[in-house]
Amino acid sequence: MGKVVITNHPLIQHKLTLLRDKNTGSKEFRALVQEIAMLMCYEATRDLPLQEVEIETPVAMAKTKVISGKTLAFVPILRAGTGMLGGVLELVPSAKVGHIGMYRDPETVKPVPYYCKLPSDISQREVIVLDPMLATGGSAIDAITQIKTYNPKSIKFMGIIAAPEGLEALTTAHPDVDVYCAALDEKLNEHSYIVPGLGDAGDRIFGTK
Ligand code: PRP
Ligand code: URA
Repeated sequence: MGKVVITNHPLIQHKLTLLRDKNTGSKEFRALVQEIAMLMCYEATRDLPLQEVEIETPVAMAKTKVISGKTLAFVPILRAGTGMLGGVLELVPSAKVGHIGMYRDPETVKPVPYYCKLPSDISQREVIVLDPMLATGGSAIDAITQIKTYNPKSIKFMGIIAAPEGLEALTTAHPDVDVYCAALDEKLNEHSYIVPGLGDAGDRIFGTK
């Protein structure tokens, strides 16, 4: 069974309050999504493999550590996942980036896939899937199912707000995937929006409503 980590660091919780506020405009919303993603990435990369190297400081030789191997690929789910990308790339600028395009059909709330472009060496990388909202879990489950066909070394999911229904569905469908979220909210409403949530993440990031 994968880990479920709720990253409830005070800085993240404070920024999340600003993010949820309906009076927060797109400019600030985008900045907050990036900042939260960066702080969460610190936690989600805690178990990256290290290898020992020897370097020379101005004072002496030192045996010290660097991250081992090709390491990471970030895969945002379009659109809203791309809002998290700048933040995680600040921390891991050498990571490769794939994209999965998926939107929720408003009637069925089932994900509709429309795009997939992943790094060619993804089988040698640890993948972190990015999407701020885990509502029914359908989009994350389908995206991870697609990514698994390329045999990456491991897959983690990093969201900002999860509904209990989506978390349950994701951990059941993909028990090998570690899940990182900043908040586990109360429930889904009749339109499968997270309550209290923050509304439509894509629309708030891109100002499309
Ligand atoms: C949102 C969100 C997730 C999905 C979550 O995207 O960014 O991808 O809904 O819902 P689920 O867990 O029930 O699948 P949306 O479908 O609104 O697409 P967009 O980002 O293109 O607006
Ligand atoms: N997608 C969103 O952007 N918000 C929700 O609350 C649910 C799905």
